[in-house]
Parts: sequence; structure tokens; C-alpha cells
Amino acid sequence: MMKLWGGRFSKQTHKLMEEFNSSLSFDKRLYSYDIKGSIAHVKMLSRTGVLSKSEAETIIKGLQEIKEEIDEGIISLEGRYEDIHSLVEKNLIDKVGAVGGKLHTARSRNDQVALDTRLYLRDEIFNIQELLIIFLKTLLELGEKYKKVVMPGYTHLQRAQPVSMGHHLLAYYFKLKRDYDRLNDNMKRVNVLPLGCGALAGTTFPIDREWVARELGFEKIALNSIDGVSDRDYIIEFMGIAASIMVHLSRFSAELILWSSSEFSFIELDDSFTTGSSIMPQKKNPDVAELVRGKSGRIFGNLVQLLSLLKGLPLAYNKDMQEDKEALFDTIDNLKIILEIFPPMLKTMKVNKDRLYRAANRGFVNATDLADYLARKGVPFREAHGMVGKAVLYALEKDKELNQITIEEWNQLFPDYGDIFDKGLSEILDVNTSLNNRKSSGGPAPEEVERVISIEREWIES
Ligand code: ARG
Repeated sequence: MMKLWGGRFSKQTHKLMEEFNSSLSFDKRLYSYDIKGSIAHVKMLSRTGVLSKSEAETIIKGLQEIKEEIDEGIISLEGRYEDIHSLVEKNLIDKVGAVGGKLHTARSRNDQVALDTRLYLRDEIFNIQELLIIFLKTLLELGEKYKKVVMPGYTHLQRAQPVSMGHHLLAYYFKLKRDYDRLNDNMKRVNVLPLGCGALAGTTFPIDREWVARELGFEKIALNSIDGVSDRDYIIEFMGIAASIMVHLSRFSAELILWSSSEFSFIELDDSFTTGSSIMPQKKNPDVAELVRGKSGRIFGNLVQLLSLLKGLPLAYNKDMQEDKEALFDTIDNLKIILEIFPPMLKTMKVNKDRLYRAANRGFVNATDLADYLARKGVPFREAHGMVGKAVLYALEKDKELNQITIEEWNQLFPDYGDIFDKGLSEILDVNTSLNNRKSSGGPAPEEVERVISIEREWIES
């Protein structure tokens, strides 16, 4: 095993110990960040006079070559190294000789690994935010496209009041927009430089951490060396946001699955985002949505793993913390593919407008409109509520919808209310009228949805 230590050991490491201890198989993905961080570190050491200019130049040139050779596969990321940091440093010393051993002056792998992870996560947060913007734009387009497609809105999975498919889809826009904002906030905590905290107690060398922070684009530096190397909250926070995104997409998926069942038939997912059955020829299964719902479990699990990992750890670094990376990488890899696959699945789905219209016309979705109608005519709302309840019972008995009850029947049902039930009633009971009348701010009326979409379009373009 190529180790960065060994002086105080008189025996070889056990083969099993080497295997068990090594993180190279997963931290190899950090190589470019590791090298970028090392280059900034060496430049700083030369500026402050810890290394000579020529020593720094040799090391930097060596590191740049190693980066290219890894990119091109000339240096393989396999092998008996303890981790990616050891691989880079050993290759550097092989390349430039003993001077390569000066790279690690005033540094520990503890601040180095924290730096690498932050550089990596910073890039991935940007990538995820970009994917979220595409997702949000797709939802705005669909909101626009389906803003007049009336459907029953639900509470308790019981038909409640009319909404539009556009309005319903835009509910997810706002959930995901909050996640986007959460990532902006998370970035404030990610974008802090840990390098210079050393193993835990800083260094005796004259380093310039502010310079390194500027060089690497960090907004701040960690101001307590023990915190700097033991802090993983920025990962917990990120994984919490990932969990929030997954709660949203899992609920979305659950709806798509329900809506594409024969029982609902509100939508049909495209062939390109569904699968068949090996035995039942008629099947078309919503696997993408099901997998997203399923993968939410592992992304929550990754968060819980990290919380459990950290809860009993004394400060500062403990090897346990090496276990933070696979959970983080798994969350990021899965989140990215999920955010990429969801929008085209939505764009290609067919919305069954007739079926939605029919569903909106059954199940007394307009009952509140009738109560509102009576309330507008002066009946106290609570009394109007009772009257409509009675009318619903009557309609159920007669196997009718509210708009099939005649004026004569209304007058029979409520003889004490004069001519309160007039021709205006049938207009009010139309589900499209009901949708159009729901113009309150944030409501489902197409004109209000349109207004909200234009506000959000401006936000997205800025
Ligand atoms: N592979 C280690 C990790 O991921 C790097 C830090 C090692 N530090 C140490 N003191 N052994 O955490």
C-alpha cells in the first residue's frame, strides 16, 4: 500500500486492514477538486515564502500534469492507495521527486478532505439548481397549457372543488422553487474555506487563508480550526434539501401513478417513459414515477445515515467521517437523474381533458359554489351550507348532480326561500364558471393563474 505515513510503524498493514480502510474506490471522483485545492495551497505557500518560487512552480506543473493524465486515463484511479489524497501526492513525488513532499506543508488530510468535499458540493449544487430551473420552466409551460383544463381538486382524496390541471401542476412549481431557494441558502454555508485548519489546530507556518479563499472563490473562511475539520452540517443541510425535493417529487409521482390508473384515467404517460409486463400483455406501467417514489426512501436514508454517523462523534476528525461521502454521492447521483428524467416525462404525458371534465362534473364539486351563491343572496353561510348539504342528500337519492335539479325541485326543497333559486343558478353550477370565478389571489381561475405565471416567468428570466 502506498501510504503517506509509516515512520512510526514497524509492521506492515494487514491486507484486510488496507482494503477496509481505503476510500479510493469512492473518493476518486474528487480528484480534480483535490488537485485544484493543492495548487491554490502551493501558490499561497510560495507567496508567503514557505516554499520557494521554483519549488512551487515544479509542484504546480507536476499537479497539472497529474490532472491531465488522470483525465486521459494514463494514471488509473485504481490501486493500493489509502485515498485520493494519497494517490495524488504519491504520483506527484514519483513525477517531480522529493520536492513533491513539500506539498503537504501546513496542511492535513483533515482540512484537505473537507475542502475537496466543499468544492465538489459547490459545483453539484449549481448543477442541481440548473436542473431545477429547467424543471420549473417546464412546470410553467404546462401550467400555461392546461390552465383552462378543469378537473376536480381533492382533499382527503375526495372530490372537493374545481381546479385546473395547470393550477394543480403549478403547486409543484412552488414547492420546487422553495427547494431552489433553500439551495441558495445552503450555499452560504458550503462556500466556506476549511483549508488552513490543519489537522485540528491550525499551523505554525505563516499561511494566508484569505488569499486561498479568494483564489478558490470562497466567501468566507472557517474561523475555528476545530469546527473547520469537524463540521459536516453543510452536507446534512444539503441532504435535508435533497430529502425535501424528494418528498415533493414522491408526492408528484404518487399522483401520476394514481392518475394513470384505469380507475382515474386522467393522464396517459408516454410509451418512452413507461414499461410493460413480462406476462400481462396489456400492461403499461408508470415505472419512472414509481422509481422516483421508491428512491425517495434511499435519499431520506442517506440523510439519516449522516445524522447517525455524526451524533456521537467527539471533536475533531474521526475516521467515521469517511463514511459521509458515499451517502452524499449517492444522493447527488440519484437526484440528478431524477431531476433530468421528470420534466420530459411530464412534457410527453397526455392529459385526458374529457375525462377530467366529466370527473369535475360528478361528485358535487360545485357544492361550495351553490353555498356561496346563497350566501351572496343574503343567507348566512352556515345556513347555506346546511341547505346545500340537504340538497346533496336529495340529489344522491335521485341519482342526480346539483345542476340536474330543476327550479321546481329547488322550490319544493326550500319553500321558505321565495324566488332565491333563479335562472342564474345553472350558470353558477357549471364547473367552468366555478373555475373562472375563483379569482382570489393565488386561486385557480385561468386569468389569475396567467397573472402568477407571468410573475414567475420574470423571476426565472432574471
Ligand atoms: N479518506 C479520509 C476521509 O475521507 C481522508 C481524511 C483522512 N484523515 C485522517 N486523519 N486519516 O475522511
